[in-house]
Amino acid sequence: MTGGAGFIGSHVVDALLAREVDVRLVDRHESRYHPNGRTATVLTDLREADAVRAAMDGCDAVVHLAAAADVGQVVADPRASEDVNTRGTLNVLEAARDAGVGRVLYASTIWVYGEQADGVVDEDSFVGIPRHFYTATKLAGEMYARSLSELYGFEHTILRFGIPYGPRAREAAVLPTFVRRAHAGQPITIAGGGVQSRRFVYVEDLADGVARALAPVAANRTYNLVSEQDVTVLELAEVVRELVAPVELIHVDGRAADFQGAIVSGERAARELGWRARTPFREGARRYVEWFLATQGPANGNGAPAALGDAEPGLATP
Ligand SMILES: NC(=O)c1ccc[n+]([C@@H]2O[C@H](COP(=O)([O-])OP(=O)(O)OC[C@H]3O[C@@H](n4cnc5c(N)ncnc54)[C@H](O)[C@@H]3O)[C@@H](O)[C@H]2O)c1
Repeated sequence: MTGGAGFIGSHVVDALLAREVDVRLVDRHESRYHPNGRTATVLTDLREADAVRAAMDGCDAVVHLAAAADVGQVVADPRASEDVNTRGTLNVLEAARDAGVGRVLYASTIWVYGEQADGVVDEDSFVGIPRHFYTATKLAGEMYARSLSELYGFEHTILRFGIPYGPRAREAAVLPTFVRRAHAGQPITIAGGGVQSRRFVYVEDLADGVARALAPVAANRTYNLVSEQDVTVLELAEVVRELVAPVELIHVDGRAADFQGAIVSGERAARELGWRARTPFREGARRYVEWFLATQGPANGNGAPAALGDAEPGLATP
């Protein structure tokens, strides 16, 4: 399990442990949630090919989530991000071959659908050339996973994640930002009427989808793991005011309507994996707030309006 110390990865570790899967966590950082000793951990950088190879020894499957996943980080240092997201993935795939691993699951993103026009896109839809470098590296990883698994003779599964939220989320994402501000008694700033919407997927649902994708049926398949519930920024702010504190909403000018792009279908995952994102947004937000209050120190809200795209770029503004 690469990237097991991260936001999504730590929940995948939980989902796998709950299924009594023997997990080896591989990350360059020790996990705050699964310290070494309780969960077998290999601390290494994906770019260290020999160490990655050794980490896979004896594994049946590899769940590969480690990446430069924060778009700010990718923009600040595209070369280092490319090194991790594509060459690191190459190291994982070659190590899987050498270790005789049966399946590699690769974490991708629904941003690979980019600015597809209206309508519904699914896993058979055309995927164009990305505008954002982060998405380019993730799509390269998909292509490497698919082509090298064929060349080397093991199975692959590609999982295109929607925008995750929930406990352990990065602070810069929109829900953490709003919660922090409300907790500090500071107003929430909303640009352009707050009508932009996204389909956030609750992170524990996502982790359940990843665990299900280890099933035989998912061999050499691609799945969108997305929710079916649209949430606007304004609705999100209202949920936070209700759950945390009824702070003032300040409306500022901004783009009135974000480009929504096509709807990403999760029907294949429902049909083949029996998976749907079941947690309603309000309930997922409640669980995030509960975690936030239990784990955070005094509030430290900052003034900037949050971006709606979470860790990843919005479709309209890559
Ligand atoms: N968060 C999102 O919005 C989102 C959406 C879609 C897909 N994804 C994908 O899901 C995966 C997990 O994302 P996340 O949000 O949990 O990110 P995260 O940053 O919370 O976790 C990534 C983990 O990878 C580890 N890592 C990074 N570089 C490494 C390296 N060189 N060697 C070893 N470990 C390294 C980090 O230490 C971290 O624990 C990524 O592949 C990401 O591209 C994320």
